[in-house]
Amino acid sequence: MTKTIGIICGSLRKNSYNRIIAQALTEMDDSVEFRWIEINDLPLFNEDLEISGDPETVSSFKSAIRDVDGIMIVSPEYNSGIPGVLKNALDWASRPAKSSVLSKKPVGIIGATPGGMGTAFAQIQTRQILEAMQAHVLPFQKVLISQVHEKIDSEQQVLTDEKTKRYLQRYLQQFMNWIDHIPTLE
Ligand SMILES: Cc1cc2nc3c(=O)[nH]c(=O)nc-3n(C[C@H](O)[C@H](O)[C@H](O)COP(=O)(O)O)c2cc1C
Repeated sequence: MTKTIGIICGSLRKNSYNRIIAQALTEMDDSVEFRWIEINDLPLFNEDLEISGDPETVSSFKSAIRDVDGIMIVSPEYNSGIPGVLKNALDWASRPAKSSVLSKKPVGIIGATPGGMGTAFAQIQTRQILEAMQAHVLPFQKVLISQVHEKIDSEQQVLTDEKTKRYLQRYLQQFMNWIDHIPTLE
């Protein structure tokens, strides 16, 4: 059966490098169905909003996560950490705590930056946050894309660097294998 992967981009910027990387990923395996899961319409998390039931944007966001076999997060790093918009989205997805849509969901993390550290700090934080909701984050492997502005064609908005394409392809392959072999811990 065709596997479905939800893509969450941690940048809301129109010409986001991370969105370009995510787009490249969606073109790498025809046997996978990729679905963009947008986070720009989510309200700021507030427990008071939950009392009267999730707002419509939140319930569609949670359903979109529930309906896919895995999630790939492709995000920048802000101030050595996870962007606020992404943290906000993950906080929504974490609720209710005992039945989060991210619990036991396979998740991969990718990040790109024009800087030299490839979003390493943000990725460590994101992994830690996801583990708090008992998501199954792909272990060991990392895709840290530094100097991303030199690896894309900014006119065409496409990834051009062959080495980065190979890294992404390998990561995607490992992620798809991971989905099939996730331990069923209760
Ligand atoms: C508020 C802010 C903080 C940033 N902090 C970092 C950082 O800690 N590390 C880093 O590599 N880049 C940092 N940057 C630069 C981003 O990597 C750069 O803006 C990148 O293009 C954002 O990703 P995007 O192109 O997908 O929107 C920061 C940018 C902003 C706006």
